[in-house]
Amino acid sequence: MDRPLTVPGLLAMKGRGEKIAALTAYDAGFAAAMDEAGVDLVLIGDSLGMVVQGHASTLPVTLDHMIYHAACVARGVRRAVLVADLPFMSYADSDRALESAARLVREAGVQVVKLEGGRKRENVVRALVEQDIPVCAHLGLLPQSVHRTGGYLVQGRDDRSAQIILEDAILLQEAGASLLVLECVPATLASEITASLSIPTIGIGAGSGCDGQVLVCYDMLAITPGKRPRFSKNFLEGAGDIRAAFRRYVAEVREGKFPGPEHSY
Ligand code: KIV
Repeated sequence: MDRPLTVPGLLAMKGRGEKIAALTAYDAGFAAAMDEAGVDLVLIGDSLGMVVQGHASTLPVTLDHMIYHAACVARGVRRAVLVADLPFMSYADSDRALESAARLVREAGVQVVKLEGGRKRENVVRALVEQDIPVCAHLGLLPQSVHRTGGYLVQGRDDRSAQIILEDAILLQEAGASLLVLECVPATLASEITASLSIPTIGIGAGSGCDGQVLVCYDMLAITPGKRPRFSKNFLEGAGDIRAAFRRYVAEVREGKFPGPEHSY
């Protein structure tokens, strides 16, 4: 078995120009299959509220739900870095963020916590990093802000909003974030942010210029009902089985074949 990957190991991958392949998982079985396929980072996303629980948004997900699913995933993973979302309102201030993150680390065994938002999260990121809890920031489309933004919309299309996202990315890196998810932003903006940062960027609908890619596993296995999002791809089609689909995803991310321009904005 390969040695377990670490947060510094992901940083070293950026240094070597090696692409990081990430997927979401919510249970031990899927997590083990993707870990064996070579996925570098497994994200227990609060997308579980939509794909597992059947809600219309991620907002009903609680910290207890996250801990339950993260602990299941952790039992399946040997090598990949484990990142879990802090759910809606669980990091509204630094004290709550510290309590929530400590539970995810202690009770579920996650290595990194992910939180959504830009400059307004600076103090929370600093507080977590001060306690040696690595943070993955998340900019662009922020699913927990759906009621403010009015939908799941591509962000950073105009110069002003693109500039704000770039500034936020630099600020969150300076606050100590170890990773940055960029969701649904133009590929040119994601490439500029990636070149401006020393920490790895993980894109979803952010083009091929990011240091890594992440997809919701239900999307890339075409389980999610309805129209597939533009940025996703059915990796099960033609692969034969789920393990082969995960291996194909890892290979296409590593080789820079996925995402193509047809998956980008
Ligand atoms: O919750 C989630 O699955 C996520 C990914 C879409 C990045 O945040």
